[in-house]
Amino acid sequence: MKEHIVVLGGGVIGLATAFSLSRRGYEVTILEKTTCGGQASGAAAGMLAPYSEISEDPDPFFTFCLSSLRMFKEWQQDVKHASGIDFEYTESGSLHVVYHESDILALESRIAWQKQFGSEAEIVDHNRLKALEPNLSDDVVAAIHSNEESHVFAPDYVIALKTACENNGVNIYENTGSITVESWISSLVLKTEEGASFTGDRLVICSGAWSNELEETFDIRIPVFPIRGQICAYELGQEKVNHILTSSQGYLVPKENGTLVNGASEDIAGFSTTVTEKGISRLVNWNKRMLPFLERKTPFHTWAGLRPATQDGFPLLGSLEEHPHIIFATGHYRNGILLSAKTGEAVADIVSGTGLDPETARAFHPERFS
Ligand code: FAD
Ligand code: GLY
Repeated sequence: MKEHIVVLGGGVIGLATAFSLSRRGYEVTILEKTTCGGQASGAAAGMLAPYSEISEDPDPFFTFCLSSLRMFKEWQQDVKHASGIDFEYTESGSLHVVYHESDILALESRIAWQKQFGSEAEIVDHNRLKALEPNLSDDVVAAIHSNEESHVFAPDYVIALKTACENNGVNIYENTGSITVESWISSLVLKTEEGASFTGDRLVICSGAWSNELEETFDIRIPVFPIRGQICAYELGQEKVNHILTSSQGYLVPKENGTLVNGASEDIAGFSTTVTEKGISRLVNWNKRMLPFLERKTPFHTWAGLRPATQDGFPLLGSLEEHPHIIFATGHYRNGILLSAKTGEAVADIVSGTGLDPETARAFHPERFS
């Protein structure tokens, strides 16, 4: 009989995990309290951008992100093939801009360590920038140009992942209400709010910002908490933007559908996904310094999502030492879309017995806080 894996949470991490497991022949069930992709994953800007996101020195998190980026081209083709859905994946490259000559030194040290990981990024001066991105402000003095960074249209990507899972035979239960774990040591039993129960051989916890609710159940510390990201989008119209644009203030991502996504705040607001005037006006105030044409525009859409942040910034990935049938895959904070490919395959490696490389296993151990 096939081993049966239950995945708790149908965000991008739960869906990618279910996709990887199902194509390796496991029986998989996803339990999702609302709708798949309805939380952080559907709200994301979709950047696959480890160089732009991780500006400090490299660590196991950076190498995990980079490895996922390098898997993504093939991964997204696999998802398209299995789902029959052609979502946007654009190899746009990125420009990380600065406005002062004195900031160029910081760019140089940033690309110096990135090059050790095979990056072909380079610093481009104002004149070359104008050729790459004609609408960029004259205030920009230089930028790091990273060819490797790309992006997906996150809402369509999660729909495609869900469809790929369904086509692979994954059982998906949505709108279950909050699932509780009734028993897990000798036998695994999960219950919906209405009392329906589900059993399985192993459990993968992919419940994102809500993962901390399971602390008491497993008697370990799960320091995952929600950080709200408020974000907005513009209609581009006649104006053209070619790259992912980032600065110390935030990012702008041009989408194939003619919109420009501008993110994002990082605020503590519990589990609220309300959009505030303050959150959006902060974006609107800095973005025109990068793209002056935005002065004449107003966002047509605003929204927010809850990033699953952790105490040390690393995800919880791996199984419990004494109960290897309980696996955590949560806490991907700002990079869950990027990390979906690597995480899905890593969980499938754990289940199939290959495991993680020792450095990753240690750094992301789910019991490291306990
Ligand atoms: P979620 O998508 O939140 O999924 C968790 C799911 O678990 C939810 O659907 C929830 O309903 C379900 N759940 C929780 N508890 C239970 C329970 N008890 N029973 C049943 N179901 C449960 N990442 C990038 O890589 N690139 C980006 O450009 C990017 N941009 C972002 C922009 C914004 C504004 C935000 C908010 C995030 C962004 N991120 C980005 C981060 C990314 O969205 C997250 O890291 C990722 O979505 C986390 O995925 P997840 O599956 O862990 O969480
Ligand atoms: N990675 C972009 C964000 O989390 O806003």
